Amino acid sequence: MKKTVILALLLSASNVFSQNPLTIPTTIETTTINLVLQEGITQFYPGINTNTMGANGALLGPTLIMNQGDNVNITVDNQLQDTTTIHWHGMHISPENDGGPHSIIYPGTTWNPQFTVLDKAGLYWYHPHLHMKTNEHVSKGIAGLIIVRDSEEAGLNLPQTYGVDEFPIVMQTKGFDASGQILIHTESDTLPMVNGTVDAFVDFPAQVVRLRVLNGSSQRTIEFGFSDNRSFSLIGTDGGLFTAPLSRTRYRISPGQRADILIDLTTSLGNNFQLMSFASELPNAIYGAAQPGMGAGATNSLVGYTANPLNGNNYQLLDITVTAQTASPVLTIPSTLATFTPIAEASANITRSLTFTSAGNMGDLNGPFLINGSGFDMGVINYTVPLDNVEIWSLTNQTPIAHPFHIHDVQFFILDINGNPPPPELQGYNDVVLVPGGQGNVRFIARFNDFSDPVIPFMYHCHMLTHEDMGMMGQFLVVNTASVEEVGSLENISVYPNPSENGIINIEVGNYNGELTITDVTGRMIEKVTVNNQSTTQLNVKTGVYYLSDSMGRTVSFVVR
Ligand code: C2O
Ligand code: CU
Ligand code: CU
Repeated sequence: MKKTVILALLLSASNVFSQNPLTIPTTIETTTINLVLQEGITQFYPGINTNTMGANGALLGPTLIMNQGDNVNITVDNQLQDTTTIHWHGMHISPENDGGPHSIIYPGTTWNPQFTVLDKAGLYWYHPHLHMKTNEHVSKGIAGLIIVRDSEEAGLNLPQTYGVDEFPIVMQTKGFDASGQILIHTESDTLPMVNGTVDAFVDFPAQVVRLRVLNGSSQRTIEFGFSDNRSFSLIGTDGGLFTAPLSRTRYRISPGQRADILIDLTTSLGNNFQLMSFASELPNAIYGAAQPGMGAGATNSLVGYTANPLNGNNYQLLDITVTAQTASPVLTIPSTLATFTPIAEASANITRSLTFTSAGNMGDLNGPFLINGSGFDMGVINYTVPLDNVEIWSLTNQTPIAHPFHIHDVQFFILDINGNPPPPELQGYNDVVLVPGGQGNVRFIARFNDFSDPVIPFMYHCHMLTHEDMGMMGQFLVVNTASVEEVGSLENISVYPNPSENGIINIEVGNYNGELTITDVTGRMIEKVTVNNQSTTQLNVKTGVYYLSDSMGRTVSFVVR
């Protein structure tokens, strides 16, 4: 343990120890993809064997390069001793292919998702998602990038030769026990690494170089920048390119988030500089800042947090030396990028309010944290979203620590943060947003199109994996309201007309006496009706999707247009 802390201090204090060439994950560019999840050994510290997990190797996984429109066929072969799942983070795919906690892959078995790539050019990623095991499997090493390319991007003359002028940058911190094994739920994540390489160096050519950046840390937010404060062009976020590049010297990347970054090195031949996290600049109440909580409510601290030299101090992630140009280099940064129209706030059908609280006292920084008062339950559907709905989700954080909120299925547009319009760097496509601590609020808008499933839900959760595993997660179904989609059937009860065009719904019962419960799409109870044998009850209900359940818990859905 002591050794770990000392080594990390040395690493963060200076760059003279940069001694390991940056690992560049291999790629798979075919549409038939085989991923073998396996256990292995990695040496993060010279001479110390650490047990790790990876896909097609001992640590991390290959970068999957896909084109929009591809039909991909993936086989995930679980050779681990443990059950897991694999989720395609940020991609717009059906619930059955999404790889959430319900798509379990037992040891020694395979899972075979197949889907069409609908996403815009962007950086996505894959990682395990088994309930209460996500952090363990990711911390031990399973994670990989997915680069999606499209025709719009192809027209832009952006660097896109992987490993030559386009570099994967998976930023992570990990903690280790005295015997050099990875700690799972730890605030002692003292060792920074890029692509699993500790103390890494890399040569970049003296031209425009593109960094495909992921914060794959379990908890830590990274304040991305360079040691000489050189500016870089931020050209896109989670789910796509901006309309134009933004010149920045810093960019805050919380767990799960990605950034598409260009650095113009055309006049930098021979320069040596470092990719840093400027954690001293992180405002408090973000994991990685000097203080992880804020306000009088932040009553207890995180064990080991203040002793961790990465918290509130700048540290190095990668040592960069600029070397000779390659053949046919990209030498300029395009002034315009993609075109897209954000979703207008006025087009929303509903606003859903989600409030984050602590299960303990309100100042608690350790969790578990709750969403709308409950922890995750695999058997509870928290929301039912009508297919094609445009929704505003309003996230209010009553805890003293910021939470990076992530939703599956969609990319969203941020409407406001604490009531203010988002800064330009947060006006693109996102699937993770850092919700500020201490009564912070974020509203986003998204369209839930293309995929519905009456049984398999999508997830939303905090992407601090400790918080997610402790239950800061919920799930929603997307249901098709255009067709009559029965969640079950009720032998003795019929509901008609379905869909109803005028709000009038008839519930006709045959051989049934008792109570029927009607709930709406948010799971809220609308009405209880008591019915008798051979009778018809007429109800008047507002537009929406509803569930009618009998006393046995059997359910049928109906729709009022
Ligand atoms: Cu990156 Cu639900 O996760
Ligand atoms: Cu996801
Ligand atoms: Cu959280």
